[in-house]
Amino acid sequence: MALPVLVADPDRKWLGDAKIHLKESGYEVDAVDNGRDAQLALFRKRYFAIILNFDLKNHTGMQVLKFIKFNHPGLKVVLVLNSEEYLQEYFDYEDLQKLGAQEVLVRPFENHKLVDSLEGQQNFSQLIKNLKKRTGQSEESEEDVDEDEFTKVRIKEFFSAKHVIFDVYIKLREGKYLKILHAGDSFSKERIDKYINEKSIEFLYFKEHDRKKYIRFCNHLARKILGNKKADTKMKVAMVKNVAEKFVEEVFVEGIKPSILDQGKEICETVFKLVEGEKDLFKLLKEFQEFDPSAYSHAFLVSLFSAMIIRQFEWQSKLTTETVSLACLFHDIGKMKLPQEINEKRPEDMNAAELEQYQMHPEFGIELLHANRSIPPSVKQIIYQHHECTDGTGFPKGVKDNKIFTLSKIVHVADEFSHIMVVNDCAPPAALKIMLENEANIARYNGVVLEHFMKVFVDPKILQEIEEKKKKIC
Ligand SMILES: [Fe+2]
Ligand SMILES: [Fe+2]
Repeated sequence: MALPVLVADPDRKWLGDAKIHLKESGYEVDAVDNGRDAQLALFRKRYFAIILNFDLKNHTGMQVLKFIKFNHPGLKVVLVLNSEEYLQEYFDYEDLQKLGAQEVLVRPFENHKLVDSLEGQQNFSQLIKNLKKRTGQSEESEEDVDEDEFTKVRIKEFFSAKHVIFDVYIKLREGKYLKILHAGDSFSKERIDKYINEKSIEFLYFKEHDRKKYIRFCNHLARKILGNKKADTKMKVAMVKNVAEKFVEEVFVEGIKPSILDQGKEICETVFKLVEGEKDLFKLLKEFQEFDPSAYSHAFLVSLFSAMIIRQFEWQSKLTTETVSLACLFHDIGKMKLPQEINEKRPEDMNAAELEQYQMHPEFGIELLHANRSIPPSVKQIIYQHHECTDGTGFPKGVKDNKIFTLSKIVHVADEFSHIMVVNDCAPPAALKIMLENEANIARYNGVVLEHFMKVFVDPKILQEIEEKKKKIC
């Protein structure tokens, strides 16, 4: 069943094109060119979303937004601005979100952005419902595409529903890709296995603009699998890793937009569900072999270890774990402002000038998040202090332990630990050994956090027994 969408824009030519494009993408579309007709249409019919131009006449875009807020609060609003000036002079994303816009598109933009923005608002079942499904699969077709247009996932970590929700490619050679599945095709696990086993394919590719859809899908699937007691813990971690990595990639590429933040919060709930529900996670973490040095993978690892440390504290709560997870996903976002050559080096290989720039990344992170008031101050504080050390040798301020927020101390330990694992290509027990090798190093971490971190790798039942013995002695 097609989702009904209303498009309201004074430009009739554009309106006509948008209508055709959205219909081709499976939506049921009505179009109006003024605000009054938009309100009338909303009064008469129930829509899933409206694509609303702010510069409407005969009831302005602002009036229609107020009308929607009062009369149709559940309606998704994609607001179209005719120029960047609105964002520079009058509003920021946050103001527009308060007015009721879930997504903002600034002209000029390509038509596929319209579909992306609508899909960004849909939950998984709506995405599936709106998909034009086919039995079997379409013909494979070769395409010349620039590598920049793609994002990739390891073929072994690719998950799909009964029907794939976007086009899937394999890489033939530089600039040449083969579309092996079209959106709506029935997904065949056998076929994917054939690519792995017979053609030694390692990665599947899909278009960058489909990444949001993939994140939504993976998060949906991860939650389902987390609820299944019989499913394997390794598989559960792989699912959450997959979704967190793709989310961080989306943030680094697209920047922080309101809809991205909502997805981030959903993913953090999933991380919480994982650390809370998987009692055997400690076993897996002991043998965790994840040496992917990408920033996306790193953010997931830091998030997972931080959440696991928090779990060891008595004051732990769902809210605290989710707050810290969100901070971890964003903790290195300030690196977006650093030159590429600095991001490719480890701090120990940098010269003094490079190091100085690198050490600005917590502040840059705060600058990037500053305008976004829906990100809690505690998240910003964690990001700002994630490189501060207990002995005052950290940055950006070089403050000592009592001036460092406890949650920042936790992220600091998780962050350095995940770097040690990747740099030394070693599993957690060996990384822990390296971390604790010399006293000077230990002095950099908060003692209580370190103690709780070590418990991450111990069977919770044993810890409980020790606690009970302690209580008896006291
Ligand atoms: Fe960092
Ligand atoms: Fe980091």
